[in-house]
Amino acid sequence: MHTTHRKGPLPRYYQLKEIMREKINAQDWKPGDLIPSERELSEQYGISRMTARQAITELVNEGLFYREQGKGTFVSRHKITQQLMHLTGFTEDIRARGQRPTTRVLSAQMCPADETTAEHLRIKTGQLIFTLRRLRLADDEPLALEVSHLNFIGCEKLLEEDLEHNSLYQLLENQYGLVLIEAEQELEAGLVGNKEAEQLQLPSGSPALYTCRTVYTERNVPIEYARSMYCGHKYVFYTSLKREQLLS
Ligand code: GLP
Repeated sequence: MHTTHRKGPLPRYYQLKEIMREKINAQDWKPGDLIPSERELSEQYGISRMTARQAITELVNEGLFYREQGKGTFVSRHKITQQLMHLTGFTEDIRARGQRPTTRVLSAQMCPADETTAEHLRIKTGQLIFTLRRLRLADDEPLALEVSHLNFIGCEKLLEEDLEHNSLYQLLENQYGLVLIEAEQELEAGLVGNKEAEQLQLPSGSPALYTCRTVYTERNVPIEYARSMYCGHKYVFYTSLKREQLLS
């Protein structure tokens, strides 16, 4: 999509948003690049400046762009956006930002489920489940520490997978035929402890965002319970909200 269409089914600010998102994904616009001004965009796409402003503002709110007073709007370098409305994995989130995701597996083993994990996975405490600890990086910069607990028939086969070079969600979907449908996720603010600070290369006591996620398959069976710690100053969780009367 390179132009906006007046009679298209989608509002024109939305079309421009998608065009700009694509420019980031295709790396035509790289982190740190100054994007064209509202005037330039409105001339190029034959839209009003207000429409161009709306598209830019939404991408600023999503964390893809940032504004610098008197200088203009730039493609974000550090803040990675995780869309709370879509169930995506780390690899997808980082690629969508035009960055290179990598993973260091800290441990991968079958472990007995503790009480909280068992409750979320709806299994008995002590049942053996696959437990994966990973350090996640974007463009070689540490971003998050994650502990994923997985339970499904044959989950021990994950012990043989190359989880350093493969996305867990892609493996589950493509190799194991599991359909990930939805998730519940809680967010909490916190501080990075000493051990994690070292792994994330941060001063200890830095701000952190904690998430707890339970992922369900199409039969409403919980398959993953994961706890993640994201570097607070590098991550944005984006969610779009609608007033209730508009939903009915
Ligand atoms: C996010 C979630 C994790 C999930 C991971 C999968 O980071 N917080 O719960 O395990 O995505 O990512 P990938 O498919 O890149 O392994």
